[in-house]
Amino acid sequence: MVSMTNTALDQTEQADIRVSVSGPVLTIVLTRPDKRNALTQAMYAAMTAGLEQAAADPGIRSVLIHGEGSVFCSGNDIADFSKANSDSSAATENEATRFINTIATFEKPLVAAVQGLSTGIGLTMLLHCDVVVVTADAKIGAPFVPLGLCPEAGSSAILPARIGYQKAYAVFALGQRLSGDEAVACGLALEVQPDLQACVTAAAGYADALALLPAESLRATKALMRPKGSLDAQITAESQVFAKLLSGPEAAEAFSAFREKRKPDFSKIS
Ligand code: COA
Repeated sequence: MVSMTNTALDQTEQADIRVSVSGPVLTIVLTRPDKRNALTQAMYAAMTAGLEQAAADPGIRSVLIHGEGSVFCSGNDIADFSKANSDSSAATENEATRFINTIATFEKPLVAAVQGLSTGIGLTMLLHCDVVVVTADAKIGAPFVPLGLCPEAGSSAILPARIGYQKAYAVFALGQRLSGDEAVACGLALEVQPDLQACVTAAAGYADALALLPAESLRATKALMRPKGSLDAQITAESQVFAKLLSGPEAAEAFSAFREKRKPDFSKIS
């Protein structure tokens, strides 16, 4: 039964993440547009807290995620990646891992509105959303190899299954990006909207509609469509390889190149 206690808008903002509750829908907004919504450790922690709040409150029946500005999410903050590159303990146990584990096991419907660029975790988190609405100007990618890294969040299994091996490999290794229309055509998104406002409105409509559906039936359907066993193992395997690469020389070169606004040179690293 939908709780009547949260019908008024209840809102918190911390670490460039705004979490609000309106009726049965909890909304998480990325509010760091000046840095293209790159995710810091504090932002992952705030997003995890939002998801945990939604999971714990029986009155919340669906979750909507979107971002402010021209870009949905430019991935993990590269300055944070650089720090992890020189501190291997930060690379293995961090808030990003907690967020990934939380979103990958989240049982209620998750809806995302995605505008402009969405890269790295900006793509991999979408694989755990149940309805994704994109703008026509969307450019969705995950250039893990050009960053000296490897896929995360189960994406090494989910993305090839969803869009085919060739396309997924081109996204991970060649840094290819999918347009809004391509994202729909290959099953990464449900529909395209012309701009951010229309995209968020459409996504909010889905979150509202899902919130009215029978919760137990939604939970059972999602659990059947997303069997957990093999995904847990894949995420663990990815995390171990990711942590090793994150502290390695290829990632160090990629992060320096980003900071210095130049192309990386991997030719001297064997
Ligand atoms: N981490 C940290 N800072 C980031 C960032 C990231 N992932 N993405 C963008 N920023 C910062 C830029 O450094 C810049 O900061 P500054 O104003 O202090 O110089 C600011 O956000 C704006 O970025 P800019 O590149 O000028 O904006 P743009 O609109 O021309 O390009 C992107 C946007 C997203 C295409 C570009 O910033 C980009 O390629 N970012 C890196 C994406 C990436 O590789 N992410 C990691 C995936 S795992």
